[in-house]
Amino acid sequence: MTTTDARTDSATQRIRHVTVIGAGTMGSQIAMVSALAGFDTTLVDIAQLPLDRARTQLWERVDRDVAKGRRTAPDVAAAKQRLTFSTDRDTVVSGTDVAIEAAIEDLAIKRELFASLDAVAPTHTLLVTNSSNIVSSQIADATRRPEKVCNMHFFNPALVMECVEVVPHERTSPETVEAITALAQAFGKTVVRLKQEIPGFVANRLLNAIRREALALQEQGIAEVEDIDRAARTALRHPMGPFELMDLVGIDVVYLIRMAEYEQTGDPESLPAPSVKELYEAGQYGRKSGQGWYSYTS
Ligand SMILES: NC(=O)c1ccc[n+]([C@@H]2O[C@H](COP(=O)([O-])OP(=O)(O)OC[C@H]3O[C@@H](n4cnc5c(N)ncnc54)[C@H](O)[C@@H]3O)[C@@H](O)[C@H]2O)c1
Repeated sequence: MTTTDARTDSATQRIRHVTVIGAGTMGSQIAMVSALAGFDTTLVDIAQLPLDRARTQLWERVDRDVAKGRRTAPDVAAAKQRLTFSTDRDTVVSGTDVAIEAAIEDLAIKRELFASLDAVAPTHTLLVTNSSNIVSSQIADATRRPEKVCNMHFFNPALVMECVEVVPHERTSPETVEAITALAQAFGKTVVRLKQEIPGFVANRLLNAIRREALALQEQGIAEVEDIDRAARTALRHPMGPFELMDLVGIDVVYLIRMAEYEQTGDPESLPAPSVKELYEAGQYGRKSGQGWYSYTS
């Protein structure tokens, strides 16, 4: 999408400038998605180092895309011009139309951050969070504009994955939902809209349901890990089985997501499966540690 396209779409009409807060795995790619879609975009972090690292990685990535013919050189050059990097959060946010928060997954930090964003952002500015586990009602009341707050949930890697979940809390206005939906579409994404918030949203709940069943089958001795993965790949056409996916994502991440959900729900059903806890406590995190459900040493 070009800048002109972005500006003529009615629901995104008022969105000229996008701020992305947090230059980690998600924030850096979300910022590039926004810049490639034609929006003036600033990526903000608390320190210069993550910003420099993000710039290097993003430039390498989009240059590779050009070399492979996936993007054109002029599109990438224009996106690089539109994307700026800053540690001066307040100045950037005072001139932005939407702030997409992708900082560390910590409720206290996010609440503090949203209160600070609210204090300096223009009144029309939408404040959304990319959090996977923290529903926006837990953050919105740290601001004086809860109706302009919701979850805008991207998937990793954000430059590649098509889906964005838009999740309102009870007080999010329909106009905010419309504007964030239109923004995600202008980013070239496919939107999954939730009517109300629930921990895990839709996609991760579906994933968890399959994972939970796979773990139960294994823990009850019904089938081996390899066979359960084989069934998912060859009968359901999933690109990889649930155990292979856990090893790829990281057993530590799988464990911590369950613990975060448990903290929100207090429901023992949310706790990590015993076998996942065992691997986590043994430091067997999957591919990254060389051992998880499978061994990666050879
Ligand atoms: N990693 C994933 O697969 C994934 C997928 C979807 C959503 N999310 C969500 O995205 C968010 C970010 O996750 P990530 O994996 O990119 O994390 P990350 O650890 O890679 O990056 C977080 C970045 O935020 C910065 N940061 C911390 N506090 C800050 C503050 N107060 N102001 C500005 N920047 C700050 C850090 O310096 C770091 O660069 C989390 O809320 C997570 O739930 C992650």
